[in-house]
Amino acid sequence: MISACLFDLDGVLVDTAKYHYLAWRRLAEELGFEFTETDNEALKGVSRMASLDILLGVGGMNENFSPDEKHAMADRKNGWYVEYISRMTPDEILPGVIPFLGELKVRGIKIALGSASRNAPMILKNTGLDGYFDAVVDGSMVSEAKPDPQVFLMGAELTGTPSRECVVFEDAEAGIEAASRAGMRSVGVGGSPTLSKATMRIAGFEGFTVTDLINRLDK
Ligand code: BG6
Ligand code: MG
Repeated sequence: MISACLFDLDGVLVDTAKYHYLAWRRLAEELGFEFTETDNEALKGVSRMASLDILLGVGGMNENFSPDEKHAMADRKNGWYVEYISRMTPDEILPGVIPFLGELKVRGIKIALGSASRNAPMILKNTGLDGYFDAVVDGSMVSEAKPDPQVFLMGAELTGTPSRECVVFEDAEAGIEAASRAGMRSVGVGGSPTLSKATMRIAGFEGFTVTDLINRLDK
């Protein structure tokens, strides 16, 4: 039985992964090294400060900065990122997402957000997605980052749903592991080979229905 669907935000409902990448790449350029899209894969689903550590590792600069300097760098990156997302509109919701959320509502299946991002509320507001959620858990509400299951366990609790009746939608390996540690089934969204541990995988929401989901997971 599926009683709640818990969605990651970046890369699942909206393509903000590209804005994170552009902002991190700009920071790397300032520091004098190249940061590729392939390098960026390792940052998906990872918290802001952990992302910075990975990025500095790529540049071989992990030991070069004090905690204060690192916070200042993360703040600068976030300033550029916020410039991008403050201009977002409903057009940037990924194809098929709105029909899928609408079908969940009609069927009475709860909808929750489980995002590592502290910027999630701004993205939900600017895209108009905020009206769909029964519960929102964002990066400012959790103490442990994915792959820790906290973000999804909170979503389950806020919607009053036992873990075994929750399904997590994720585009990042850390998120699939978080779902698994929470005792939840998961749908890996997108083509990344790192999602092989998900219960099932989809390319995206276009043409994918709640009936398809139930047929794949509950029958
Ligand atoms: C996740 C993204 O959703 O949120 C990561 O996949 C990002 O790339 C993390 O680092 C934290 O986001 P923010 O907006 O709080 O910096
Ligand atoms: Mg994501």
